[in-house]
Amino acid sequence: MSSLAQKRILLGISGGIAAYKSADLVRRLKERDADVRVVMTAGAREFVQPLTYQALSGNPVHTDLLDPAAEAAMGHIELAKWAELILIAPASAQVLAKLACGMADDLLTTLCLASEAPLAVAPAMNQAMWRNAATAANAKTLVERGVLFWGPAAGSQACGDVGPGRMLEPDALVAEVESLFRPQRSLAGKKVTITAGPTREALDPVRYLSNHSSGKMGFALATAAQRAGAEVTLIAGPVQLATPPGVKRIDVTGALDMRDAAERAADLCDIFIGAAAVADFRPAEVSAQKIKKKDDSERDSLALVKNPDIVAGIAGRSQRRPFTVGFAAETEKVVEHAQAKLARKKLDLIIANDVTAADSGFNSDRNTVTVIDANGSTSLPPALKTELAEQLINLIAERALTQ
Ligand code: CTP
Repeated sequence: MSSLAQKRILLGISGGIAAYKSADLVRRLKERDADVRVVMTAGAREFVQPLTYQALSGNPVHTDLLDPAAEAAMGHIELAKWAELILIAPASAQVLAKLACGMADDLLTTLCLASEAPLAVAPAMNQAMWRNAATAANAKTLVERGVLFWGPAAGSQACGDVGPGRMLEPDALVAEVESLFRPQRSLAGKKVTITAGPTREALDPVRYLSNHSSGKMGFALATAAQRAGAEVTLIAGPVQLATPPGVKRIDVTGALDMRDAAERAADLCDIFIGAAAVADFRPAEVSAQKIKKKDDSERDSLALVKNPDIVAGIAGRSQRRPFTVGFAAETEKVVEHAQAKLARKKLDLIIANDVTAADSGFNSDRNTVTVIDANGSTSLPPALKTELAEQLINLIAERALTQ
């Protein structure tokens, strides 16, 4: 039986020439016994007639927010609750912009706001529109909120341009949908603790020392571990990210708070992943009052004390020691330095990345990593942090459970 049998998929179609490909997408989803309902925007209806999708999906096509007949059959909130996945294919620049703003001025965007189902988009637009800073910012916002981006692919476009912006082909989209629904329960019954984000080390009531970590990698790992069936505790420094569904989040500020929360969680967990960028030092003293500048001094100095190494503390335990994974952000001799860190911190596995590589590491949505353990190293191809997280969780699960 296909992993899509009886899966309730709401397919949103927005305006774009790629809308004709979605007819084939509906057909392929139906072939796999998925239950498909189609919502079309006004723009989409300029390209393809609703009747096409009605015939292929076997269900009436939804087009209007406040159509009394449609509301009587299945109201829009009911439709939002019905969906197990919302896939917008093609997703135009306009639809991405509306989603990023949280607008609800038509049926499709209203359903997206009202639904708790995962939302995936298959962007399709002219390459310059995809590359435009406004679209890039909207896509970044949506990725941070957990929206799945499938594509776009690069190549020749209907308008004659060549570049990124082509909708993924229907079979590639079906493969993404299948992989989303395929049960990956490699961590069923396991408890996983993950630290993420920066720490913030107070200097006085208004100032602190910190770093640029966004927390994206740790949050993506938490999402992937939860999807793999684990009970996940995410210990997060100050970051601007939404809590992944089903994950227990503990917010902390400084390294000492993070250490205390991590030690408590590690007592109960099977796998500990230190993805946080913990500040190595903190001010030796935290002033209770705002520190005033001295009028006559051009220079000043700050006494710092070393923070405890959280992941090394957990890996060094003699009892109740979880399988312990660390990260190594390096700028040169990546594998060599990471191997030394693996040994020094007594980790089971370390994930190394070259932070100088373009479009990788801190604050980027993408990353390129090498996984190192006592048996050697494996380099993974560059990927979105969300995709990489799935691969890393599968790999960690495999190594941790065969120990
Ligand atoms: N880490 C930690 N506690 C610290 C510092 C780091 O738990 N006080 C963890 C990070 O979460 C990461 C790993 O240690 O998993 C690597 O940290 P990194 O800062 O790269 O290494 P350092 O040991 O600080 O070495 P260096 O700064 O010399 O690269």
